[in-house]
Amino acid sequence: MADSYSKPDYSGLIREAAAARQHSYSPYSHFRVGAALLCGDGKIYTGCNIENRAYGPTNCAERTAIFKAVSEGERDFTAIAIVGGESETVWCYPCGVCRQVMAEFCEPGSFQIICGKSEEEYKVFTLEELLPEMF
Ligand code: THU
Repeated sequence: MADSYSKPDYSGLIREAAAARQHSYSPYSHFRVGAALLCGDGKIYTGCNIENRAYGPTNCAERTAIFKAVSEGERDFTAIAIVGGESETVWCYPCGVCRQVMAEFCEPGSFQIICGKSEEEYKVFTLEELLPEMF
């Protein structure tokens, strides 16, 4: 019998995140991350991690994408895809700071966080699952 549950197809959003990963500036960690943020109106904002020799000013891919979108007037977000790793992609989950930034703008029960190893292999979480009992 066919499985009545089918996972939403996020392969396109993952592809955008993987393309953004190509711009990663990560000479210190060599951990290259890309993100693609989907807005309610269908627009996509992408971002990569941008490191700094002082380490502290480093910005994650997710926050780059979110800050780009907010700075252009967008605040209605549906989902974010994240792709990361050194030479090849591994499971890459958003850090605590990025989860908190998502909490500022996204609906915890419905905002989808897609962690992609590839366009075919990905895990989907809600923000509420990754940041329970949020501030
Ligand atoms: N990083 C991201 O950009 N997003 C994540 O979800 C995890 C970590 C970056 C920060 C830093 O440039 C590098 O990956 C290693 O931590």
